[in-house]
Amino acid sequence: MTGEGDGERFPRRPHRVDRSVCGNPAPVRSGPGRSSRLPGVDLADVTDDLTRVLYTREDIDARLAELAGQIDADYADKDLLLVGVLNGAVMVMADLSRALTSHCEMDWMAISSYGAGTKSSGVVRILKDLNTDIAGRHVLVVEDIIDTGLTLTYLLSNLESRGPASLEIMTMFRKPEALENRVDVRYVGYDIPNEFVVGYGLDFDGRYRNLRSVATLAPHVYR
Ligand code: PRP
Repeated sequence: MTGEGDGERFPRRPHRVDRSVCGNPAPVRSGPGRSSRLPGVDLADVTDDLTRVLYTREDIDARLAELAGQIDADYADKDLLLVGVLNGAVMVMADLSRALTSHCEMDWMAISSYGAGTKSSGVVRILKDLNTDIAGRHVLVVEDIIDTGLTLTYLLSNLESRGPASLEIMTMFRKPEALENRVDVRYVGYDIPNEFVVGYGLDFDGRYRNLRSVATLAPHVYR
């Protein structure tokens, strides 16, 4: 994911998480009298890598339910196309789409910043384009996080040129202090501090995406 402060990207460094964390057999939690929820990585297993939990799985589920209700109402008489931005949006896309009570279609884009520097150039290239012709469609872009806003500024301009009937954004997290470009976002899960956060799709060096909660990463992990 993107970094903090003046738009600098955090360096990609070897992480210090024991890889066995994700590979451990999950504790059995189903059965009579037990929760039927899917297990997932236990926060206790990565607690040394995190400094503060910002939002728990319950917080995220509750907020997504609220947003899904708004989206259901707003698109009640429209065919909705959700466009997820890989990779981080996988989690929110999966949960949001299933929280909706109306039908929707889904498509995906993969994009990457140009350049090898640590600072985002704001110019992105499309690694995977949509399979869907969005002309005349009601499109809702689904993101995990808006940091500087540069990625979405490019993406919106690109998608707008394809003639959708409407084009809106839903993001689970946004860092208002880091925004370099004003982006009109219709649905925001949470505004968060300008810190390095991981979990629920947000990664460091490809890891921590599959945490159910969102937490700040301890500096010793990325420094
Ligand atoms: C993250 C996130 C957004 C982008 C936002 O993607 O998913 O697409 O950064 O940053 P910005 O507002 O500063 O442009 P990232 O490039 O980290 O890739 P990922 O989704 O594969 O983690």
